[in-house]
Amino acid sequence: MLQVSNINSFYRKIQALWGVSLRIDEKELVALIGANGAGKTTLLKTISGLLHPASGSVQFLDMRIDQMPAHSIVELGVSHVSEGRRLFQDMTVRENLDMGAYTHKAWNKKEETLERVHQIFPILKVRSRQLARTLSGGEQQMLAMGRGLMSRPRLCMFDELSYGLAPILAKEVFKIVKTLREQDIAILLVEQNVRHALEIADRAYVLENGRIVLEGESRGLSENELIKQAYLGL
Ligand SMILES: Nc1ncnc2c1ncn2[C@@H]1O[C@H](COP(=O)(O)OP(=O)(O)O)[C@@H](O)[C@H]1O
Ligand SMILES: [Mg+2]
Repeated sequence: MLQVSNINSFYRKIQALWGVSLRIDEKELVALIGANGAGKTTLLKTISGLLHPASGSVQFLDMRIDQMPAHSIVELGVSHVSEGRRLFQDMTVRENLDMGAYTHKAWNKKEETLERVHQIFPILKVRSRQLARTLSGGEQQMLAMGRGLMSRPRLCMFDELSYGLAPILAKEVFKIVKTLREQDIAILLVEQNVRHALEIADRAYVLENGRIVLEGESRGLSENELIKQAYLGL
């Protein structure tokens, strides 16, 4: 479904990704882990078109997307739920969700998608008319996820979903991510909570200083000595 091949990405003259390759199959849940500053967000931005790689390619459903504008990539079915939630704080929950459905394809099916999002996150239905800024941290994160789903993505990328959430809420959020795969959505999950990420992912990639240093099935990686020491604190 998604094939990232040998990309090099820069911020002006500073190289942030070095020959990164990664693939995600249909309905797969793939985790991307790595320390602060490793390049995880940069990789998501490169896939969603917010940043264009200097070389290498990104293919989605057999289409070359690495030089496409971000809005076209959303239209093709890639959704990026960015770090720090980035909600429209002075708009209601419902209005925030509507904003997620701005593509042609999604706008026509808005009501149907909204119903599905309400099923996944019942609290968003309850809070429909509240301003986003009045939601709790966990509810805001659910709204960000719900908004990401309103574009009816085939691939959804989540950046640091559990960041700043109490453990019990983080657990809830991971449980929801797990259910999304049952809805035919492939997921790329960026997490610092490596233990949880490996628990729910099929496969994982480890990024260090802009390079993929390890990849494999999650189960095998949880037994890997480097992972145990560096990321699981064992
Ligand atoms: N907008 C930017 N301009 C310049 N450098 C950046 C920018 N965003 C990130 N970087 C640098 O790129 C590297 C990777 O950052 P990032 O992708 O945000 O890492 P992560 O998400 O894994 O914490 C870091 O060295 C960071 O300082
Ligand atoms: Mg980041």
